[in-house]
Amino acid sequence: MKLVIAATGASGSIYLQRLLDCLRPQEHEVHLVLSEPAREVIAGELEELRIPPGILTHDDRDMNVPFVSGSARFDAMVVVPCSMGTMGRIAHGTSDSVILRAADVFLKERRKLILVPRETPWSLIHARNAVMLLEAGAVLLPAIPSFYNRPQTVQAVADTVVSRILDQLGVENPIAFRWAE
Ligand SMILES: Cc1cc2nc3c(=O)[nH]c(=O)nc-3n(C[C@H](O)[C@H](O)[C@H](O)COP(=O)(O)O)c2cc1C
Repeated sequence: MKLVIAATGASGSIYLQRLLDCLRPQEHEVHLVLSEPAREVIAGELEELRIPPGILTHDDRDMNVPFVSGSARFDAMVVVPCSMGTMGRIAHGTSDSVILRAADVFLKERRKLILVPRETPWSLIHARNAVMLLEAGAVLLPAIPSFYNRPQTVQAVADTVVSRILDQLGVENPIAFRWAE
């Protein structure tokens, strides 16, 4: 698969880290883009972002990447975590950064776009933007962990969200907990 993973300036860098840990760059072509605010939040929340070898990284301002054009064939894009700012900008098609343009392209090409928003509580503006994105075909997968597998560590809590992202992507899922299986 050809995948774009983007991170924006919402809390929840651990979700990004765990997703990168679980994807296999030897099997998938994985492109990573971080917004400037994402870098700040990551610096506050993690010792450092560990980028596994083989993952291709890009600047959010450099449009010289294949996935900002519909002509390049990609399978899916994940924005994790996704700020309310980015959610609103994608909903309104501003397209003025690599992340925003790529999301715009994935929507117009009817490719899988998975947004992992993190904010609470939501305003009506957030909710309306979410509805617009659902209508446009995005998958909204909020960073809402589950506890029915009794996670014992922060990583295990985060993995309950990351597992759902992996399932949505349709890739191998080494961290799945499947109820009643
Ligand atoms: C430490 C920190 C945590 C933040 N957490 C959130 C958050 O959980 N959700 C959110 O929507 N914005 C959050 N923000 C605000 C965004 O970073 C800010 O709106 C930024 O402009 C988003 O830009 P981006 O979407 O281009 O990354 C946070 C900011 C900081 C500094």
